[in-house]
Amino acid sequence: MSQTNAILEKPDAEALAKTKLRSDFVWGVSTSAYQIEGAAAEDGRGPSIWDTRCRTAGGVVNGDTGDVACDHYHRYEDDIALMRDLGVDAYRFSVAWPRVLPRGRGAVNDKGLDFYDRVIDGALAAGIEPWLCVYHWDLPQALHDQGGWANRDCAGWYADYAALLARRYGDRVKRWITFNEFSVFTLFGYAIPWAAPGITDREQHLRAIHHVNLAHGAGVDVIRDLVPGASIGAVHNRQRVLPEGDRAENVEAAALLDEHWNLAFCDPQLLGHYSPRVAKAIEPYVQAGDMARICRPMDWFGLNHYGPIFAKADPTRAWGYGWGDAPPDSPTHGVGWAVFPDAFRDELLEITRRYRMPIVITENGCGGNDTPDESGAIDDQHRINYLRLYNAKMHEAIRAGADVRGYFVWSLLDNFEWGSGYGNRFGIVHVDFATQKRTPKASARWYADLIKSERFRA
Ligand code: FCB
Repeated sequence: MSQTNAILEKPDAEALAKTKLRSDFVWGVSTSAYQIEGAAAEDGRGPSIWDTRCRTAGGVVNGDTGDVACDHYHRYEDDIALMRDLGVDAYRFSVAWPRVLPRGRGAVNDKGLDFYDRVIDGALAAGIEPWLCVYHWDLPQALHDQGGWANRDCAGWYADYAALLARRYGDRVKRWITFNEFSVFTLFGYAIPWAAPGITDREQHLRAIHHVNLAHGAGVDVIRDLVPGASIGAVHNRQRVLPEGDRAENVEAAALLDEHWNLAFCDPQLLGHYSPRVAKAIEPYVQAGDMARICRPMDWFGLNHYGPIFAKADPTRAWGYGWGDAPPDSPTHGVGWAVFPDAFRDELLEITRRYRMPIVITENGCGGNDTPDESGAIDDQHRINYLRLYNAKMHEAIRAGADVRGYFVWSLLDNFEWGSGYGNRFGIVHVDFATQKRTPKASARWYADLIKSERFRA
């Protein structure tokens, strides 16, 4: 942690003032399939675009892969026990599409479906509510080979996959999430090639945005239809986009990135229209009736938030913008992401103002390079301070009118952090990737205590 990070070292008392939460407030932890499961070639799982990405030169730091990851496929019982010890109410996980439909559609893989039965039943037996995310970025490679999200048919393939899950798990799972972070996997998958499938093409990016929106709408409809009492959300990553410095071209870059990042999915899904610049560019791909297909009634807004992002003009990139730097004296956490707790409060209030619906914070957390000391303990005070500050800002937002219904830490375990491989640890539980030993960090104890004390106050 840098010396300038006073905010993380000593949060001031006033910033930590609390308000009373709803008595049904949900405390949870989040994970995703490709980041933890491993068993990539086991029991009939098919390849995903992330398996391919990991085998592409320069795709992932160190050439790391999700082949083994946290071996959660074999150790899920231990991981559920860890969650039970934390005292969480809920577990947000994702299903790997290629594990249950190895080629994306057609033949079903029963062993894959059985695995999620075990996870769901195990969580329920431990008193933990499973929150199922249908898509967290691992598109079956076979579907990508047929055009993937750039192909309009992908929306229908997704709806069939969602229906399979709804039929199979809907008797026990009532909390459903259509997608995780629409804008991240479309932007980094199709315009700035930092994620699978690593394409740089404006047209494919626009098509992907629209088709993913259509898939979301179709997914909501099938889940609503097949799961009595379903409570459905979609998870959006929203963070303010600020220009690097005040040069006019960077301000312009930030405005366009803001539309791609914060509005291209929330607005059509919740307001029924695209934001101005996206609307103009996306017109050729929109058919009559599409906006009504996309804008379906939702039960809650899932927010993933880490910190603001910075944009600058970059003519070498597909849309003429690239990633900028935060002001040099900005606080950052272990992996260099900006820490601006006020921006979290402001985002919660902006969502409340713009979309007027209940919010569940589905991811918030802090990366680092946490290593055990000689005694084997991991004293991640930087993460505790981050979580404490961000929780305080959530309280502030609630006081100011945001209807926040839950909070999930990213993440339960150190895991495969996409393009950064295993070097960027977000877990409140440390994983030794050589031995698969799990060790709760100091932040895990802190989070367990927080949950207990919040329940006591409720
Ligand atoms: C989010 C992703 C999640 C994880 C965290 C650190 O963008 O949803 O899978 O990588 O960032």
